[in-house]
Amino acid sequence: MCGIVGAVAQRNVVPILLEGLQRLEYRGYDSAGLVVVHDAKLERVRSTGRVAELTVKSTTTHGLIGIAHTRWATHGVPSERNAHPHLSKDHIAVVHNGIIENYEELRTRLTAEGYEFTSDTDTEVIAHLIHSHYARGNSLLTATQASLAELVGAYAIGVIASDNPDQMVCARRGSPLLLGVGNKEHFVASDVSALLPVTRKVVYLEEGDVVELGRLDYRIFDAAGKLAKRAVVISELSNESVQLGEYSHYMQKEIHEQPQALADTLESVCNSQSLVPGIFGAQAAATFADINGILILACGTSHHAGLVARFWLEEIAGIPCNVEIASEYRYRTSVPNPKTLVVVISQSGETADTQAALNHAKGLGHIHTLAICNVPESALVRLCKLRLLTRAGPEIGVASTKAFTTQLAALFLLTLVLAKQRGRLTAQQEQQHLHELRHLPSAVQKVLELEPQIAKLSKKFAKKHHALFLGRGLHYPIALEGALKLKEISYIHAEAYPAGELKHGPLALVDKDMPVISVAPNDALLEKLKSNLQEVRARGGELYVFADADTHIHAADGIHIMQMPEHAGYLSPILHTIPLQLLAYYVALQKGTDVDKPRNLAKSVTVE
Ligand code: F6R
Repeated sequence: MCGIVGAVAQRNVVPILLEGLQRLEYRGYDSAGLVVVHDAKLERVRSTGRVAELTVKSTTTHGLIGIAHTRWATHGVPSERNAHPHLSKDHIAVVHNGIIENYEELRTRLTAEGYEFTSDTDTEVIAHLIHSHYARGNSLLTATQASLAELVGAYAIGVIASDNPDQMVCARRGSPLLLGVGNKEHFVASDVSALLPVTRKVVYLEEGDVVELGRLDYRIFDAAGKLAKRAVVISELSNESVQLGEYSHYMQKEIHEQPQALADTLESVCNSQSLVPGIFGAQAAATFADINGILILACGTSHHAGLVARFWLEEIAGIPCNVEIASEYRYRTSVPNPKTLVVVISQSGETADTQAALNHAKGLGHIHTLAICNVPESALVRLCKLRLLTRAGPEIGVASTKAFTTQLAALFLLTLVLAKQRGRLTAQQEQQHLHELRHLPSAVQKVLELEPQIAKLSKKFAKKHHALFLGRGLHYPIALEGALKLKEISYIHAEAYPAGELKHGPLALVDKDMPVISVAPNDALLEKLKSNLQEVRARGGELYVFADADTHIHAADGIHIMQMPEHAGYLSPILHTIPLQLLAYYVALQKGTDVDKPRNLAKSVTVE
């Protein structure tokens, strides 16, 4: 989704802005732009192409202060006139992430005041609003604060003025923004990875913060307008962790990083002899003792992780669990049970719907909250009482891969800790689970060896328009995840069904052109699944079966088997995810799509 970079420095900031934007490309965007102050004038460059095109267009642009943006269209089509930065009377320039909900009303008012709108965006009202306050003699800071007070909605903004080459103002509410502290220069960005080439010293801004940023210093004002102090932290993210290295795409790199990501996520647990609630935070033991149910809220792939966890939580920990799509839950009238642990799952920790769902749950009286998240300083982590951080490292590919499997590992830990606390885990079972968790990274490594076979198999999908994914029980959510991966990066229409549902409708779709991909672990539902596969084969459907070694499903005409190296019991969904990720990746290569930046999608969905 949209990205912001800004700099006020002793050197030309254009290369800093462009490199920052390039590092934010993974978030998804459809246009880009930057503006600098040069000779008391705003110099703006915009483009509807890639950042590389903006770079070519900016070769003669120069300035010591500037702001830049990648836009993911919400209000107004992707076009140069809608690309940020937006200007007011060539005097004020603004970049903005988020959505201003009262922009129509503000636009009508500002038009009546004589402001001319040149775009269809909600952002342009911010530029004119700030200008209207600035033109009355207010400082840039005061003008911005006064304008923000009139806005309804979510924003992270950067603001500069043509007659103020030494100061920038930025602010956040509902969208992430952080400062970068350099040597006599300061930066702002929506994502720390944008700033890594210039600094690792960062300040995470809090909700409602407004900052006045100069070369030598900065002042932060909190939501109440009071001067505030925020800690400077050294980002743990290394520059290399966001480099592509030997891989062709970030998605491929991230699929291969899963053994390490899982080992890192499980590190503290695997190095100890027993499971303790403390891994979720100091108040975890007391909180877990006070709950009698779980409500999981998440979107997309993270929601699929929640669906797997429901099986674990109910079967192993014996605790009732509901899993809801965050964007639905936030608008649904539900009956709250205050003894529920609300678990939000998110890679980015910034997903607008998940945040809103969490706030909705809190509003209904839920006090027990836990975030399972990959970004330590993110909004969701801050909003929850308890947390478990997945340690997948930065996920750049839009399609979530290592975030998903590490979420599953974290949710399995939650299950075991709750099961133990409820007396449902013997010491021997605990040791057995710990043993299996320690083995998990190498088991995943083995599955990755299927890559050449899957690459070959993917050729059969190059001309397909539809695909069906089947799974049962614990693996139905994995079928859902496989279908989501395939559709989002290869644009093949894919749907997932619990295999038993086939004959209740979707079997009508099956013919020789319909590939049916089945997740076939050697579990209690295997024999049922085999019958479902017969139903498909009998209608001429072409079967692609990811089967555990001992399932005795054999290759035949129209039945392609991918043999999984081992059966991992409860952890099997993690292993079975890997070949489906690889399948989607290689099919996308066949189709020639932009694997890491699929059309219309954004990495971090910070708008509703
Ligand atoms: C799919 C994908 C999305 C995200 C969803 C939630 O590959 O990445 O479905 O899972 O947008 O994002 P997070 O986990 O950041 O809350």
